[in-house]
Amino acid sequence: MWRTLRVRLVVLRSCLNCICHVHCACAVWCARTSCVADIISTVEFNHTGELLATGDKGGRVVIFQREPEDKLQGHVRGEYNVYSTFQSHEPEFDYLKSLEIEEKINKIKWLPQQNAAHSLLSTNDKTIKLWKISERDKRPEGYNLKDEEGKLKDLSTVTSLQVPVLKPMDLMVEVSPRRIFSNGHTYHVNSISVNSDCETYMSADDLRINLWHLAITDRSFNIVDIKPANMEDLTEVITAAEFHPYHCNLFVYSSSKGSLRLCDMRASALCDKHCKLYEEPEDPSNRSFFSEIISSVSDVKFSHSGRYMLTRDYLTVKVWDLNMETKPIETYQVHDYLRSKLCSLYENDCIFDKFECAWNGSDSVIMTGAYNNFFRMFDRNTKRDVTLEASRESSKPRAVLKPRRVCVGGKRRKDDISVDSLDFTKKILHTAWHPTENIIAIAATNNLYIFQDKVNSDMH
Ligand SMILES: *[C@@H]1O[C@H](CO)[C@@H](O)[C@H](O)[C@H]1NC(C)=O
Ligand SMILES: *[C@@H]1O[C@H](CO)[C@@H](O)[C@H](O)[C@H]1NC(C)=O
Ligand SMILES: *[C@@H]1O[C@H](CO)[C@@H](O)[C@H](O)[C@H]1NC(C)=O
Repeated sequence: MWRTLRVRLVVLRSCLNCICHVHCACAVWCARTSCVADIISTVEFNHTGELLATGDKGGRVVIFQREPEDKLQGHVRGEYNVYSTFQSHEPEFDYLKSLEIEEKINKIKWLPQQNAAHSLLSTNDKTIKLWKISERDKRPEGYNLKDEEGKLKDLSTVTSLQVPVLKPMDLMVEVSPRRIFSNGHTYHVNSISVNSDCETYMSADDLRINLWHLAITDRSFNIVDIKPANMEDLTEVITAAEFHPYHCNLFVYSSSKGSLRLCDMRASALCDKHCKLYEEPEDPSNRSFFSEIISSVSDVKFSHSGRYMLTRDYLTVKVWDLNMETKPIETYQVHDYLRSKLCSLYENDCIFDKFECAWNGSDSVIMTGAYNNFFRMFDRNTKRDVTLEASRESSKPRAVLKPRRVCVGGKRRKDDISVDSLDFTKKILHTAWHPTENIIAIAATNNLYIFQDKVNSDMH
């Protein structure tokens, strides 16, 4: 039974002073609905799940921290509270191409923690940044040449030498930009992935994948390039890419044609020739004008074990075994009732929505988003699935999520919702699963929901 652990329903940034006018033409619209800049564009737990980072369309990163268990007074155990907020990217203008570069954060990836500070990578369409997040609870006082505000003292008043001392102060979280990796991409960056060697990471755009050293910002190595000599021959783009969780030479990338390519960097420096191609032949009876669009892979994730890959396309999630290229070992229908609605979903552009997918910590359950603020979970062992809703109703603390059902014609039970009343503007594209516990983070437009499966957490 999934319960609400924390909901951040507050519009985090007030519309009046935000950069909202850049995005929405009409101020009235902006005041009535929530601010476009607050729409969450990515969510990511750190490797122990104690920290959760979100990025938004306004270029901002908000980090939540789980309340430690020993600070029980007044806090619900395990609740996530805001730890730090900072502006990661600003809107820019590319004068050479006369193009505006949006500040929207496309992806965030945590680096494994190596000292007291935390580090993460954040990227918009073009520029990847490495941020350091550190805590400070002491400050030096008693400088000889500076006063407490840091201004130089009148030297004639300095008559004796004193030893500066560290005084305790309120905990402060400091965020500082460490590196800026720019000029690596001509097209829009859709993925970043940190290698298990902890020294390199890759970034993928529509046509190329680059490999970077975390310490070197002025050059990267191009490891995949699918740009045809003549752009008119372009039939396929890269949609997502990820490193294998522990083989540092392996990575996978997905394409708009529904295929996955596994590449081995040990085989050659330029991985244009994949070592394995995973593709399922299309069922000819299902072919339609929309076939290619709905088979485009919007996300790919290796399982924690490294044995499987999970992909999401418009209507399904699929589990692939690394050892089987000809077809997925499991296919789950996310919202098959939309198959008859593809025409209108094409007209309102929804068919191009990019849903993400996630594994639970033991790779036994998979999760992905849908419309109407619904999200789906599939248990791979029991083959049971559930549809849950992230709604204001579930925003009360400890609210229990009721399974939802969409009915397609036929008999309609109480509480069923009909396909025709689904709200296609409410979509859950970004989700994340805590690496070791049954805690999930769901981004529903500008709201972040954190749910916990009570039954399982009681067993700890
Ligand atoms: C994740 O964040 C927590 C809380 O600060 C920290 O203790 C932990 O080491 C981090 N995990 C990793 C692997 O970075
Ligand atoms: C073909 O369509 C049916 C539903 O109309 C679906 O159940 C089936 O999985 C589809 N086949 C493939 C290969 O996608
Ligand atoms: C994954 O989900 C299953 C089913 O809810 C649960 O039993 C298991 O504990 C979960 N694993 C982790 C690591 O959260």
